[in-house]
Amino acid sequence: MSYAIINPFYAARLKRVPRIDRDQPEQPVYARLPLAPRNASPVPHLTSLYHFHRAGEYGDRKWPGNCGGNLIRDLLLYFRPGLVFDPMTGSGTARDVCQELGVPCISFDIHEDYDACDPRQAPAPESFDFIWAHPPYWRQKLYADDPRDLSRAPTLEDFLRRYGQFIRNSAQALKPAGKLAVLMGDYSDREAGYVPLVYHTKRLAFAAGLTQHCTDIIRFSHGASSSKKVYRSCFIPGLHDVCMIFEKQR
Ligand SMILES: C[S@@+](CC[C@H](N)C(=O)[O-])C[C@H]1O[C@@H](n2cnc3c(N)ncnc32)[C@H](O)[C@@H]1O
Repeated sequence: MSYAIINPFYAARLKRVPRIDRDQPEQPVYARLPLAPRNASPVPHLTSLYHFHRAGEYGDRKWPGNCGGNLIRDLLLYFRPGLVFDPMTGSGTARDVCQELGVPCISFDIHEDYDACDPRQAPAPESFDFIWAHPPYWRQKLYADDPRDLSRAPTLEDFLRRYGQFIRNSAQALKPAGKLAVLMGDYSDREAGYVPLVYHTKRLAFAAGLTQHCTDIIRFSHGASSSKKVYRSCFIPGLHDVCMIFEKQR
């Protein structure tokens, strides 16, 4: 084990503390989670802290930005919606989960020439019980070679303008008491600095007339491609993204 002396005062007293040895292979760190209170939830393990290290056999793990299907599955088992919509479906993770559960689902993507941010392509009002949305975290990852792709928005202002329209389209497409679940993460951009996209999502959802239905769900980012990289710069790594559940007025 290697050691580092942390403070000259304590150094004089030869107090030494272990240092993280960066040459050691990564070891998993096990955190003890708080106990969840018992309640009538049909999915008791669904709490504000979501940690499923296996993604499940849904969608395509090689799709950039692919998310595991287990959280979607748990949300559907909890909310028991009728018709589901996934307007940014990527590799079809939500669609696969719906198929497994026998829940009807409509899903599109910009790759199929469907622009979820265009008010002219918005679904008919009050069509869906549940919308699952996993949009690009602005330009953290690039998706389609199409200027309408949200990840291609040239400025944060432009991204937020189109993202706001997407949330308004979704709010309109929900039935009364319908739920919009958005999975989003904050992101540190080379030019724009730290972009609090979770904050912006809430701001835009409230402006669209939605209310927050329940706790945020903090999803641990197991298997993120960035976790194996080595950076020269100094920062506090973000190891989660956030699933927010909004509700349309009853
Ligand atoms: C984070 S990925 C979703 C990944 C998906 N959850 C999965 O597990 O495969 C975001 C998706 O949004 C799509 N997208 C970006 N802009 C869009 C737009 N304006 N309309 C519809 N889809 C869009 C991208 O093509 C990409 O597939």
